[in-house]
Amino acid sequence: MLLVVFLCAESHGDDKAAQDNNRVDLICPNSEDISPCVCFSFPDKTTHLDCSAVRSEAQLAELFSSLAVPAFTSLTIEYNTDIKVLRVGDLGNVTFQEIYVHGGALEEVENGSLSASYSIAHSLDFSSNSLTSFCFEDIKQFTSLLDLNLSDNKLYELPQISSQTLTSLSIGKNPLTSLSPSVFSDTPSLRAISIFGTELNNLFAGTFSTLANLTWLNLSENELTHIHTDAIHIKVFGASIHLDYNSIKYVLPGGISGLRGGFVYLYTNNIVELEEDVWRPLLEEGNTLDLKANPLACGCDVAWLVKNATLLQFVDSKTSCSSGDLLVDLDAEYLDLVC
Ligand SMILES: *[C@@H]1O[C@H](CO)[C@@H](O)[C@H](O)[C@H]1NC(C)=O
Ligand SMILES: *[C@@H]1O[C@H](CO)[C@@H](O)[C@H](O)[C@H]1NC(C)=O
Ligand SMILES: *[C@@H]1O[C@H](CO)[C@@H](O)[C@H](O)[C@H]1NC(C)=O
Ligand SMILES: *[C@@H]1O[C@H](CO)[C@@H](O)[C@H](O)[C@H]1NC(C)=O
Ligand SMILES: *[C@@H]1O[C@H](CO)[C@@H](O)[C@H](O)[C@H]1NC(C)=O
Ligand SMILES: *[C@@H]1O[C@H](CO)[C@@H](O)[C@H](O)[C@H]1NC(C)=O
Repeated sequence: MLLVVFLCAESHGDDKAAQDNNRVDLICPNSEDISPCVCFSFPDKTTHLDCSAVRSEAQLAELFSSLAVPAFTSLTIEYNTDIKVLRVGDLGNVTFQEIYVHGGALEEVENGSLSASYSIAHSLDFSSNSLTSFCFEDIKQFTSLLDLNLSDNKLYELPQISSQTLTSLSIGKNPLTSLSPSVFSDTPSLRAISIFGTELNNLFAGTFSTLANLTWLNLSENELTHIHTDAIHIKVFGASIHLDYNSIKYVLPGGISGLRGGFVYLYTNNIVELEEDVWRPLLEEGNTLDLKANPLACGCDVAWLVKNATLLQFVDSKTSCSSGDLLVDLDAEYLDLVC
């Protein structure tokens, strides 16, 4: 809104700017035709429709059914407490590249409700609503979709999704408890996955093993206790894996594999022992491990690590034992003697 006022004010003393401004304004419908929605347009010819003030599903449907403009760059509906369901047909045949419905009372996005934007939408953000139902089976119809953000909702399940284009998925802060091992078997382009702050307590073998371009995996603040063999297999150099603030006690050999030159964050978990067959392969590949705030026993299990300065440099230097001693300060010769 401020920017539009600014553009208008600027144009007074400048004919060229006034012309540009008029031309730009033609992209937006007359404001009385779309009230209570508001349209903003910018010199780069993007048009942004904000329908945060719409008071019901019926009002939304009526507005879009009579809209003469067939396409906008984005749709925003923010902090709206009246729209509970995005129904099939409510958005008419109007298309959007970005749909941002955030911080409201939305409970359901119906299968087909976004169909006009199947070929054009690249970002769908329904974060911080009360979604219990989302049209996951519809995702495969979106042929340009890059980002899907469903974080901070009430979704109990992430079914298998299909998309050849999706690169970023965020479904953190939902009451998910498990993930099917095939959930990402048909999303080959995913680079970033955030499943943060859920009730996820188990990862099956293969869950994160099929994605050739996975570079950023955020599984912080879940309820994981084990990382089973082959749960996470990374193919991209320098990827980062966030497993901090779980209840992980055991990482099994090959639980995190393939990673080279990457970062594994495991601070604030329940790890007691650092078994050589689990951790040596990760350190030998030049991955940095953050194991701070774990109840490490620092007994004979860490002798192999403390003895090898080359490997030890990849462990965060502030990592401490349950005794309070820093791992890097342990006496290698003493460990050699007693173990
Ligand atoms: C949308 O397009 C379909 C097919 O062209 C048409 O039948 C329908 O009436 C249109 N809906 C609106 C709201 O314009
Ligand atoms: C969702 O809609 C598609 C067509 O748009 C249909 O093929 C599919 O069966 C629907 N799924 C459900 C669960 O209704
Ligand atoms: C998803 O939405 C949340 C809440 O708005 C935001 O904090 C987060 O950065 C978004 N994630 C992505 C990947 O855009
Ligand atoms: C992975 O990324 C590379 C480089 O950006 C790209 O060429 C390739 O198509 C991507 N693979 C998939 C399956 O998306
Ligand atoms: C993990 O994702 C959540 C939600 O998007 C975010 O708040 C948190 O900062 C992320 N963690 C890291 C290390 O970026
Ligand atoms: C430390 O480990 C590396 C990688 O396994 C090995 O090449 C090197 O010889 C070891 N150094 C010592 C002093 O044992």
